Amino acid sequence: TRVAAVIPAAGRGVRLGPGAPKALRTLGGTPMLVHAVRALAASRAVSLVVVVAPPDGAAEVKSLLDAHALPGGTPSGSWGSTDFMVVPGGDSRQESVRLGLEALPPGHDIVLVHDAARPLVPVDTVDAVIEAVRDGAAAVVPALPLADTVKQVEPAAVPGGPEPVVATPDRARLRAVQTPQGFDRATLVRAHETVTDDVTDDASMVEQLGEPVVAVPGHEEAFKVTRPLDLVLAEAVLARRRL
Ligand code: CTP
Ligand code: MG
Repeated sequence: TRVAAVIPAAGRGVRLGPGAPKALRTLGGTPMLVHAVRALAASRAVSLVVVVAPPDGAAEVKSLLDAHALPGGTPSGSWGSTDFMVVPGGDSRQESVRLGLEALPPGHDIVLVHDAARPLVPVDTVDAVIEAVRDGAAAVVPALPLADTVKQVEPAAVPGGPEPVVATPDRARLRAVQTPQGFDRATLVRAHETVTDDVTDDASMVEQLGEPVVAVPGHEEAFKVTRPLDLVLAEAVLARRRL
C-alpha cells in the first residue's frame, strides 16, 4: 500500500510573533517546512508529499522545495524517491487539510497528515503510525502522557480574572497528541466531507464519524513549534543531532 502525506503549512504563526509565515521560519538555517518534508520523506513508505502552502505563497514554496530537492542543493541532497506537490491552503487548518486531500492523486490508500510546525519528528514515529494503519486501524495518532495536571475551567467573570475550576480529569488517561496522524484514506476523506464542526486535529473528525481511533507512542521531538520558546528548544534539538 502506497502512503501519501499531506503537510498543512498555510498558517501564519500568530503565536510565534511577527516575521515570515511560520513554515518558512528557519531552524539551523533551513526553513521549518523543509525539515518537515525531509522528516516524512525519510520514511521508505512515503512516496508522495502534498504541501499545503499559504494561499498567496504556493509558487514561492514550490521553488523553495525545488531548490532544496535538487542534488547538491543542500547537504543531504534530495528527497530521494519521494515526489512532492504544492497546493494553496485555506483560512483554517481543517480547510487546508481538505484542500490537500482533494489534490491527492489516486493510488495512495494510506494518508498521513503532518503539521509543518513539527519539523523534527523522528522517522521511527512516522513508521510506527504507518504500521498501525497497515495493521488495520482506520485512524492512528502518536500520543504522549502529560507532564502537567489538566483542569477544566469556566470562563472568567471579567476578562483576565480568575477562572472557576470545574473538573480535574484523571491525568493517567489523558494524552497529548501529535502528528503525523495516519488514516485509511477513504475514512479521512469521508470525515472531511461530513464533519463541519471546528476541530484542531484530523482524528477528532474520524471520532465524530463513530470510527475507532487508536494512539501509539509519540516522541518528545515531535513537539509543535508554537511559541517563541519552542524555537529555542527546536534549535537545541537540531544542534544536538548534528554533534
Ligand atoms: N495551518 C494551515 N492552514 C491554516 C492554519 C494552520 O495549514 N489556515 C497549519 C500550520 O501551518 C501548521 C499546522 O496547521 O503547520 C498547525 O497549526 P498551528 O501550529 O496553529 O500553526 P499556525 O496556525 O500557523 O499558528 P498560530 O495558530 O499561532 O497562528
Ligand atoms: Mg493555528
